[in-house]
Amino acid sequence: MNLAELNKVALAMVAPGKGILAADESSGTIKKRFDVIGVTSTEESRRDYREMLFRSREAMTQTISGVILYDETIWQNAADGTPLVKVIEQSGAIPGIKVDEGTQALPNCPGELVTVGLDKLAERLKKYYERGARFAKWRAVIDLNQHLPTMTAIHVNAHALARYAALCQAAQIVPIVEPEVLMDADHDIERCYDVTQRVLNKTFQELRVQRVALEGMILKPNMVVPGKKSPKQASVAEVAEKTVRLLKACVPAAVPGIAFLSGGQSDEDATAHLDAMNRIGGLPWKLTFSYGRALQAAPLRAWSGKPENIAAGQRAFSHRARMNSLAASGEWKADLERKAA
Ligand code: 13P
Repeated sequence: MNLAELNKVALAMVAPGKGILAADESSGTIKKRFDVIGVTSTEESRRDYREMLFRSREAMTQTISGVILYDETIWQNAADGTPLVKVIEQSGAIPGIKVDEGTQALPNCPGELVTVGLDKLAERLKKYYERGARFAKWRAVIDLNQHLPTMTAIHVNAHALARYAALCQAAQIVPIVEPEVLMDADHDIERCYDVTQRVLNKTFQELRVQRVALEGMILKPNMVVPGKKSPKQASVAEVAEKTVRLLKACVPAAVPGIAFLSGGQSDEDATAHLDAMNRIGGLPWKLTFSYGRALQAAPLRAWSGKPENIAAGQRAFSHRARMNSLAASGEWKADLERKAA
């Protein structure tokens, strides 16, 4: 393992004013997104949609540091025959790859999940590196209610994340470590804080046990937010204050950067929260975005599967990417959204 090189890639992923586009939806998830806009999900329509994003010059050259791809996409070519990986590289962004193979029911823990995909991961990483991937992603999902999560679910998922991260570094690939505490339920912000704290502490404990070099990884956590169905919603300032407090308590300063998932927040909330955290300042790591839905919802709608809408889709993507880039520097303003509308 060349740690200096891993650290260089990790720093480039969180370069000032830049963040990551998560375009790694599984075939099942992208079908759900396409269903909403009335587009049939085929290998070609998935390629056309993603090519539209990767050829958005303004967004890709100025605000996107890296793109997380799904296995199908990393092997696909653009309509003109250029590998999509090359299209991404030519814009100056780094190709990355989702390597987990989804979740399975966790035995003895009704309602809980464990992320799988460690078998043969070392061989797969080698092939992805040869194709151009310089970072990877593995997502653990922690759901919560009055009784969940169990310590079992937190432990096995943290263990798998650390196994994955160690294998990535051995293959000279920067691991994005993503332990996601879901925001779908009706819990309040304090409950999210407590559960996320347990999850992050366990994750870093496992990373240490398995000798993962913190300088060569990126953390992708949820923000500290109330559940979507909670009657007690929180202000932007409260989310920012609690998320920063929690991260300072749990994430060692050796980690180069933290790139949040959006998790089902509205586009503007995801931007406003990131902006407010960066305005607090004095942080030991870079704080940026690694959004899927909060970067793609607008371009997906604007495109709606029609070739004549490609420019409109790219404008919508560039706008969201620009807003999040400003938020990554603590320079976003709400009226920039109104102006664009
Ligand atoms: P969202 O921003 O839509 O949560 O997706 C990010 C991601 O990569 C989830 O694994």
